[in-house]
Amino acid sequence: MQELSGKTAVITGAASGIGLALAHRFGAAGMNLVVGDIESGPLDLATTELSDAGYDVAAMELDVSDLDGIRAFESFARESFGNVHLLCNNAGVGAGGPVADMDNLDLWKWTIDINLWGVIYGCKVFMGAMIEHGEGAHIVNTASMAGHLSAPMMGPYNISKYGVVALSETMAKEMAMMQTTLGVSVLCPAFVQTKIATSDRNLPDEVKAAHGRDGSASETSGTQSVIERLVASGIPTADVAEAVHDAVVNDEFWILTHPESTPAITERARQIVDGINPPLTGFV
Ligand SMILES: NC(=O)c1ccc[n+]([C@@H]2O[C@H](COP(=O)([O-])OP(=O)(O)OC[C@H]3O[C@@H](n4cnc5c(N)ncnc54)[C@H](O)[C@@H]3O)[C@@H](O)[C@H]2O)c1
Repeated sequence: MQELSGKTAVITGAASGIGLALAHRFGAAGMNLVVGDIESGPLDLATTELSDAGYDVAAMELDVSDLDGIRAFESFARESFGNVHLLCNNAGVGAGGPVADMDNLDLWKWTIDINLWGVIYGCKVFMGAMIEHGEGAHIVNTASMAGHLSAPMMGPYNISKYGVVALSETMAKEMAMMQTTLGVSVLCPAFVQTKIATSDRNLPDEVKAAHGRDGSASETSGTQSVIERLVASGIPTADVAEAVHDAVVNDEFWILTHPESTPAITERARQIVDGINPPLTGFV
């Protein structure tokens, strides 16, 4: 979709991090912005920030794991600016813990409901009209390098992101089969400087309490502090937004923002075809 000016972009998880940077980048490209997020306070601040930057913006509080909420968001987008041309299914959380721990299933479900079902709902609810209006359209699904490489202690996150990669590849092939004008991209960054390491802030209260994430646990876990350090060492959100902008304009499917991570994808493919058991490696 080469011409963006005057068209409409819908972005989930836009109150923070990558989503807010995407809103700035596509606003600067002259698009109308429809932004959604589960955090109402930060969403209000982001909306003011985007509006002050001179962009036309409409905002709605939204839980992407709620199908009816996504349906209402689609109606809100059409009522605000008419046809939708760009959908960024970006909202996501990081949580999980060891596969052997049966007590963390609620954290697994929460993560997969948002990161995978939220993207599935977004695609299914928005796609029909985006194909039918015929003005050109593009969907960007936010996955991760965790959608290609399976770091330990990240089970639900890995599952959700592999799912987003698989969904996006399937969609791209189906759009080609159907000869539509809808482009598809999948965003697969390694670490980016955002608030992802504090995703717990959006956990339902009962899940927070069950896992001592309501302030009742005095120590930050070792895994948590490693993740915080890695996220802090990541690339700026503006770099990711620029890569997404270029992929939309040039109709590129894969958005890999961390070239230093890509050899690990090749290595994993080689291990699969050579029948080598998974080695203990990270994904950076
Ligand atoms: N930061 C990284 O290192 C990194 C790396 C790879 C992929 N990602 C992915 O990028 C996406 C954006 O995350 P981020 O890093 O900007 O983190 P972030 O926490 O800064 O932003 C995520 C936003 O999503 C919102 N959100 C959470 N649950 C929601 C829900 N149920 N409905 C609607 N909104 C919800 C949050 O309130 C927040 O504003 C996620 O999908 C994440 O998995 C991040």
